[in-house]
Amino acid sequence: MTDVSIQATENGPLKVRGPIELTDAEGGHIEVQSETVFLCRCGGSMNKPFCDGTHSKVGFQGATAAVREAEES
Ligand code: FES
Repeated sequence: MTDVSIQATENGPLKVRGPIELTDAEGGHIEVQSETVFLCRCGGSMNKPFCDGTHSKVGFQGATAAVREAEES
């Protein structure tokens, strides 16, 4: 069983719980202050990769349920 969980919040960030190592696209270490972090998924944060609350100002609407790939027959 994993010690890490990731939950999409309603119209907000991804809530990540557990011991994680966070890196940027170039592999650079990003300091994580807590075992619970909120990662931006709206693209508007000025503090990426972390959420700064901008999602509520820009009216971000995230999917409320997992979207499965369409099955075509
Ligand atoms: S999800 Fe909160 S600022 Fe992007």
